[in-house]
Formats: sequence, structure tokens, C-alpha cells
Amino acid sequence: MLEAKDITKTFTSEGVATPALRGVSLTVGAGEFVSIVGRSGSGKTTFLNVLSTLLAPDGGEVLYGGENVTAFSPERLNRLRNRDFAVVFQFHYLLPYLTARENVLLPFMTGLGRVGSRERARAEDCLERVGLAGKGGKLPGHLSGGEQQRVAIARALVKDSKILFADEPTGNLDKTTGESVMSLLTDLKRDGLSIVMVTHDESYARRADRVVRMADGLVAGDA
Ligand SMILES: Nc1ncnc2c1ncn2[C@@H]1O[C@H](COP(=O)(O)OP(=O)(O)OP(=O)(O)O)[C@@H](O)[C@H]1O
Ligand SMILES: [Mg+2]
Repeated sequence: MLEAKDITKTFTSEGVATPALRGVSLTVGAGEFVSIVGRSGSGKTTFLNVLSTLLAPDGGEVLYGGENVTAFSPERLNRLRNRDFAVVFQFHYLLPYLTARENVLLPFMTGLGRVGSRERARAEDCLERVGLAGKGGKLPGHLSGGEQQRVAIARALVKDSKILFADEPTGNLDKTTGESVMSLLTDLKRDGLSIVMVTHDESYARRADRVVRMADGLVAGDA
């Protein structure tokens, strides 16, 4: 379904080149749940951003459904992302002046989307699914860190995506809340969603179908 081949990416800032990815490959099957682990700075976020097409690689290619998306025009890439991809970032990026409910509805507000009663009902469903029923009217600043993280997950779920990219979705959560996010992800996988999750937590990583280890911009081997 999704395949990355020999991806390279080097960041240059203030004249210093950092090779973040030095030739990584990965295949994610339809409905598969893959986790990516590795030390801080090993390239996990960079790789996830390349996989979700938010970041263009320097070399290599990303294939989705057999098509080389690395060669897509920005418009075509946008359409694809809108239709099939859902992203939860390492930092949740909720808009502070919108309520939780409005943040969840954001994916419908961009592009040609329209927010009607069906979209609103779907947003309520997603808030309920992440355990935030009744909190939709609150601003992010009036929610706990874990609740904010769950709003970001609800936002990723609001559209019927095919593949979810999640960067440390349990990063700032206590054990109980982290556990509820993980069981949500495994439920979603059971419903047919493909998932690529970056995590520091070995026990969460093992809940995926497959664990990919990264070290110094390379895949260190599957476990
Ligand atoms: N925009 C950028 N400009 C310059 N260097 C960057 C940039 N983004 C990442 N890097 C560097 O690339 C390397 C990989 O970063 P990346 O964010 O992918 O790591 P990570 O595995 O996600 O780490 P963490 O677990 O801390 O989130 C690091 O050395 C980092 O400093
Ligand atoms: Mg990261």
C-alpha cells in the first residue's frame, strides 16, 4: 500500500549539514500497524514526514498504491493527503482560539470541504471515541495535556482516512491515558486502518504488527 525506497534527507542549517535519513526503506501493507522506534535524533519524525508526503526527500521515492507520489504536483499531493492520509504530530498543534470541537472539524474547513450536520455528528463521534464526550466546547488551553493530545487524535479520525501517521501519540500521557490511546489505535487497526506510529515506548511499540528500529538515519533491522 505504502512503500518508501531508499529515502535520503539532509538538513542544512547555519552551514552545518545533518544527514537525517541515509537510505531508509519501508513497506506498509493495507491494514498493517507498524511502529517505528529509535533514539532521539535517529530520524523517526523526518521519516514519518517523508512517508506522509509532508516533507520531500532528497533521494529515493515514496509509492502509494503503486504510484510514485514523490513526483506528484503539489495540488495532486494535497488531494491525496486530504482523501487518504491522517496525521497526528509530535506536538499536537491545536489552534488555541478554536474549541476542541472546532479543532476536530478543521479538516473539513480546508479545501472544498463543507461543515454540515453530518460533519458535526462525525466530530462528536470522534470526540466520544477518544473519551472527550461533553468537552467539545472547551478551548485547548482549558484542557489537560492528555486531553489536548486526544483532541488531535479525534481530528485525525474525523475523515475516513486509509492510513494514519502518528508521531508519539502517547508522548505526554500518563499510563492510563496512554493505554486508552493505544487501545483506540488497535481498534482502528481492527476496523481496517493502516497505521504508522513513532514511539519511545517499547511496550506500546510491540502492540503493532511489526516494529522497525531506526538508528542514525538508518533502519537498524526489524524485530
Ligand atoms: N528542520 C531541521 N533542520 C535541521 N536539522 C534537523 C531538522 N529536523 C531534524 N533535524 C535533525 O535531523 C535529525 C533527525 O531528527 P528527527 O526529528 O527526525 O529525529 P527523531 O528521531 O524524531 O527524534 P525525537 O525522538 O527526539 O523526536 C536530528 O539530528 C535533528 O537534529
Ligand atoms: Mg521526533
